[in-house]
Amino acid sequence: MAKRRIHSWPVRLTHWVNAFGMTCMFMSGWGIYNASPLFAFHFSQPLTLGGWLGGAIAWHFAVMWLLVANGLLYVLYGLASRHFKRDFLPVTPTAVKRDLVAALRFKLVHEKGVYNAVQRLMYLGVLAAGVLVVVSGLAIWKPIQLQELVALLGGFDFARYVHFAAMTAIGAFVIVHLALVLMVPKTLLPMITGGVQPVPSGKHDHD
Ligand code: HEM
Repeated sequence: MAKRRIHSWPVRLTHWVNAFGMTCMFMSGWGIYNASPLFAFHFSQPLTLGGWLGGAIAWHFAVMWLLVANGLLYVLYGLASRHFKRDFLPVTPTAVKRDLVAALRFKLVHEKGVYNAVQRLMYLGVLAAGVLVVVSGLAIWKPIQLQELVALLGGFDFARYVHFAAMTAIGAFVIVHLALVLMVPKTLLPMITGGVQPVPSGKHDHD
Protein backbone atom coordinates (compact mmCIF):
# COMPACT_ATOMS: atom_id res chain seq x y z
CA MET A 1 0.00 0.00 0.00
CA ALA A 2 1.25 3.49 -0.88
CA LYS A 3 2.07 5.95 1.86
CA ARG A 4 1.78 9.69 2.20
CA ARG A 5 2.75 12.35 4.68
CA ILE A 6 0.14 13.14 7.35
CA HIS A 7 1.25 16.79 7.42
CA SER A 8 3.15 18.26 4.46
CA TRP A 9 6.22 20.42 5.19
CA PRO A 10 4.54 23.74 4.27
CA VAL A 11 1.75 23.01 6.81
CA ARG A 12 4.26 22.06 9.51
CA LEU A 13 6.56 25.03 8.84
CA THR A 14 3.74 27.59 8.81
CA HIS A 15 2.06 25.95 11.84
CA TRP A 16 5.12 26.29 14.07
CA VAL A 17 6.04 29.78 12.82
CA ASN A 18 2.42 30.69 13.59
CA ALA A 19 2.55 29.17 17.11
CA PHE A 20 5.71 31.20 17.85
CA GLY A 21 4.33 34.39 16.26
CA MET A 22 0.96 34.09 17.99
CA THR A 23 2.65 33.81 21.39
CA CYS A 24 4.54 37.05 20.68
CA MET A 25 1.35 38.76 19.43
CA PHE A 26 -0.69 37.76 22.50
CA MET A 27 2.01 38.89 24.92
CA SER A 28 2.89 42.16 23.18
CA GLY A 29 -0.83 42.85 22.57
CA TRP A 30 -1.54 42.46 26.28
CA GLY A 31 1.28 44.94 26.98
CA ILE A 32 -0.32 47.48 24.61
CA TYR A 33 -3.77 46.84 26.16
CA ASN A 34 -2.40 47.55 29.65
CA ALA A 35 -1.48 51.11 28.62
CA SER A 36 -5.17 51.83 27.90
CA PRO A 37 -7.37 48.99 29.18
CA LEU A 38 -10.83 48.42 27.68
CA PHE A 39 -12.09 46.57 30.74
CA ALA A 40 -11.62 46.75 34.51
CA PHE A 41 -8.59 44.43 34.43
CA HIS A 42 -5.07 44.38 33.10
CA PHE A 43 -2.71 41.56 32.19
CA SER A 44 0.02 40.81 34.67
CA GLN A 45 3.43 42.15 33.65
CA PRO A 46 5.21 38.74 33.28
CA LEU A 47 2.60 37.78 30.65
CA THR A 48 3.51 40.79 28.48
CA LEU A 49 6.34 41.32 26.00
CA GLY A 50 8.40 44.43 25.32
CA GLY A 51 8.83 45.82 28.86
CA TRP A 52 7.01 49.12 28.16
CA LEU A 53 4.42 50.47 25.71
CA GLY A 54 6.96 51.40 23.01
CA GLY A 55 8.67 48.01 23.26
CA ALA A 56 5.37 46.13 23.15
CA ILE A 57 4.28 48.07 20.02
CA ALA A 58 7.63 47.38 18.35
CA TRP A 59 7.21 43.63 18.98
CA HIS A 60 3.57 43.66 17.86
CA PHE A 61 4.36 45.35 14.51
CA ALA A 62 7.53 43.37 13.79
CA VAL A 63 5.90 39.98 14.40
CA MET A 64 2.76 41.12 12.54
CA TRP A 65 4.75 41.11 9.27
CA LEU A 66 6.09 37.63 9.97
CA LEU A 67 2.56 36.36 10.65
CA VAL A 68 1.02 38.07 7.61
CA ALA A 69 3.67 36.54 5.31
CA ASN A 70 3.32 33.17 7.04
CA GLY A 71 -0.49 33.30 6.89
CA LEU A 72 -0.47 34.16 3.17
CA LEU A 73 1.89 31.26 2.49
CA TYR A 74 -0.35 28.88 4.45
CA VAL A 75 -3.58 30.02 2.78
CA LEU A 76 -2.08 29.99 -0.74
CA TYR A 77 -0.65 26.52 -0.13
CA GLY A 78 -3.91 25.30 1.43
CA LEU A 79 -5.89 26.42 -1.61
CA ALA A 80 -3.38 25.44 -4.33
CA SER A 81 -2.64 21.97 -2.91
CA ARG A 82 -6.36 21.42 -2.15
CA HIS A 83 -5.34 20.73 1.48
CA PHE A 84 -8.25 22.83 2.79
CA LYS A 85 -10.77 21.13 0.53
CA ARG A 86 -9.44 17.63 1.21
CA ASP A 87 -8.84 17.87 4.96
CA PHE A 88 -11.19 20.62 6.28
CA LEU A 89 -14.31 19.93 4.20
CA PRO A 90 -17.08 18.95 4.39
CA VAL A 91 -18.24 20.03 7.86
CA THR A 92 -21.90 19.24 8.41
CA PRO A 93 -23.90 20.10 11.57
CA THR A 94 -24.79 16.39 11.92
CA ALA A 95 -21.13 15.35 11.88
CA VAL A 96 -20.16 18.13 14.32
CA LYS A 97 -22.92 17.07 16.72
CA ARG A 98 -21.95 13.39 16.42
CA ASP A 99 -18.22 14.03 17.00
CA LEU A 100 -18.82 16.54 19.80
CA VAL A 101 -21.00 14.08 21.72
CA ALA A 102 -18.42 11.33 21.16
CA ALA A 103 -15.57 13.63 22.26
CA LEU A 104 -17.39 14.69 25.44
CA ARG A 105 -17.89 11.00 26.27
CA PHE A 106 -14.18 10.40 25.53
CA LYS A 107 -15.29 7.98 22.83
CA LEU A 108 -14.06 9.85 19.75
CA VAL A 109 -11.71 7.58 17.82
CA HIS A 110 -8.71 9.36 16.30
CA GLU A 111 -8.17 8.26 12.72
CA LYS A 112 -4.57 8.82 11.63
CA GLY A 113 -4.33 11.74 9.17
CA VAL A 114 -8.06 12.55 9.36
CA TYR A 115 -9.49 15.58 11.16
CA ASN A 116 -12.81 14.96 12.91
CA ALA A 117 -15.74 17.35 12.33
CA VAL A 118 -15.09 19.31 15.57
CA GLN A 119 -11.45 19.86 14.56
CA ARG A 120 -12.51 20.93 11.06
CA LEU A 121 -14.97 23.44 12.46
CA MET A 122 -12.37 24.75 14.91
CA TYR A 123 -9.70 25.15 12.19
CA LEU A 124 -12.11 26.98 9.87
CA GLY A 125 -13.26 29.10 12.83
CA VAL A 126 -9.73 30.10 13.83
CA LEU A 127 -9.00 31.01 10.20
CA ALA A 128 -12.05 33.33 10.25
CA ALA A 129 -10.95 34.80 13.62
CA GLY A 130 -7.48 35.30 12.08
CA VAL A 131 -8.99 37.33 9.23
CA LEU A 132 -11.01 39.40 11.73
CA VAL A 133 -8.01 40.08 13.97
CA VAL A 134 -6.00 41.30 10.94
CA VAL A 135 -8.83 43.45 9.52
CA SER A 136 -9.65 45.06 12.91
CA GLY A 137 -5.93 45.45 13.63
CA LEU A 138 -5.46 47.30 10.32
CA ALA A 139 -8.39 49.59 11.22
CA ILE A 140 -6.94 50.64 14.59
CA TRP A 141 -3.40 50.89 13.16
CA LYS A 142 -4.30 53.26 10.27
CA PRO A 143 -7.67 54.78 11.28
CA ILE A 144 -7.26 57.89 9.07
CA GLN A 145 -6.15 56.11 5.89
CA LEU A 146 -8.70 53.32 6.39
CA GLN A 147 -11.68 55.45 7.52
CA GLU A 148 -14.19 53.35 5.58
CA LEU A 149 -12.97 50.18 7.25
CA VAL A 150 -13.14 51.87 10.67
CA ALA A 151 -16.73 52.98 9.92
CA LEU A 152 -17.61 49.45 8.81
CA LEU A 153 -16.35 48.17 12.17
CA GLY A 154 -18.53 50.66 14.08
CA GLY A 155 -15.90 53.36 14.72
CA PHE A 156 -12.40 53.37 16.24
CA ASP A 157 -13.45 52.52 19.80
CA PHE A 158 -15.68 49.66 18.71
CA ALA A 159 -12.95 48.35 16.38
CA ARG A 160 -10.74 47.98 19.48
CA TYR A 161 -13.40 45.77 21.06
CA VAL A 162 -13.64 43.75 17.82
CA HIS A 163 -9.84 43.27 17.86
CA PHE A 164 -10.00 42.19 21.50
CA ALA A 165 -12.91 39.79 20.80
CA ALA A 166 -11.04 38.22 17.86
CA MET A 167 -7.96 37.80 20.09
CA THR A 168 -10.16 36.15 22.75
CA ALA A 169 -11.63 33.76 20.14
CA ILE A 170 -8.12 32.76 19.01
CA GLY A 171 -7.07 32.38 22.66
CA ALA A 172 -10.07 30.13 23.37
CA PHE A 173 -9.19 28.08 20.27
CA VAL A 174 -5.60 27.66 21.49
CA ILE A 175 -6.74 26.48 24.94
CA VAL A 176 -9.10 23.83 23.49
CA HIS A 177 -6.52 22.95 20.78
CA LEU A 178 -3.82 22.30 23.37
CA ALA A 179 -6.26 20.33 25.56
CA LEU A 180 -7.05 18.10 22.56
CA VAL A 181 -3.33 17.58 21.85
CA LEU A 182 -2.85 16.60 25.50
CA MET A 183 -5.77 14.16 25.22
CA VAL A 184 -4.41 12.62 21.99
CA PRO A 185 -0.64 13.18 22.32
CA LYS A 186 0.23 10.86 19.41
CA THR A 187 -0.92 13.67 17.06
CA LEU A 188 2.01 15.85 18.13
CA LEU A 189 4.97 13.99 16.59
CA PRO A 190 3.52 13.92 13.02
CA MET A 191 3.04 17.71 13.26
CA ILE A 192 6.81 17.91 13.84
CA THR A 193 8.19 15.14 11.61
CA GLY A 194 5.40 14.84 9.01
CA GLY A 195 4.53 11.24 9.88
CA VAL A 196 3.22 8.70 7.36
CA GLN A 197 -0.17 7.26 6.70
CA PRO A 198 -1.15 4.46 4.33
CA VAL A 199 -3.30 5.43 1.34
CA PRO A 200 -5.31 3.03 -0.85
CA SER A 201 -3.30 2.29 -4.03
CA GLY A 202 -4.26 4.37 -7.04
CA LYS A 203 -4.07 7.63 -5.07
CA HIS A 204 -1.02 9.86 -5.54
CA ASP A 205 1.42 10.61 -2.75
CA HIS A 206 1.98 14.17 -1.65
CA ASP A 207 4.74 15.62 0.46
C1 HEM B 1 2.49 24.95 21.30
C2 HEM B 1 1.37 25.21 20.66
C3 HEM B 1 0.71 24.27 19.68
C4 HEM B 1 0.76 22.89 19.60
C5 HEM B 1 1.51 21.92 20.51
C6 HEM B 1 -0.06 22.51 18.48
C7 HEM B 1 -0.24 21.21 18.03
C8 HEM B 1 -0.94 20.84 16.89
C9 HEM B 1 -1.07 19.48 16.40
C10 HEM B 1 -0.49 18.25 17.08
C11 HEM B 1 -1.81 19.50 15.27
C12 HEM B 1 -2.25 18.30 14.42
C13 HEM B 1 -3.54 17.75 14.98
C14 HEM B 1 -3.91 16.41 14.37
O1 HEM B 1 -3.20 15.89 13.53
O2 HEM B 1 -4.98 15.88 14.75
C15 HEM B 1 -2.14 20.91 15.00
C16 HEM B 1 -2.85 21.37 13.91
C17 HEM B 1 -3.25 22.67 13.75
N1 HEM B 1 -2.99 23.72 14.62
FE1 HEM B 1 -1.82 23.68 16.26
N2 HEM B 1 -0.60 23.63 17.92
C18 HEM B 1 -0.16 24.73 18.62
C19 HEM B 1 -0.48 26.05 18.41
C20 HEM B 1 -1.38 26.48 17.45
C21 HEM B 1 -1.82 27.86 17.29
C22 HEM B 1 -1.36 29.04 18.16
C23 HEM B 1 -2.69 27.86 16.25
C24 HEM B 1 -3.46 29.02 15.65
C25 HEM B 1 -3.80 30.10 16.29
C26 HEM B 1 -2.79 26.50 15.74
C27 HEM B 1 -3.57 26.12 14.69
C28 HEM B 1 -3.60 24.85 14.13
C29 HEM B 1 -4.26 24.54 12.87
C30 HEM B 1 -5.07 25.52 11.99
C31 HEM B 1 -4.02 23.18 12.62
C32 HEM B 1 -4.44 22.41 11.38
C33 HEM B 1 -3.26 22.58 10.39
C34 HEM B 1 -3.57 22.07 8.99
O3 HEM B 1 -3.76 20.86 8.80
O4 HEM B 1 -3.58 22.92 8.06
N3 HEM B 1 -1.99 25.69 16.50
N4 HEM B 1 -1.60 21.68 16.02
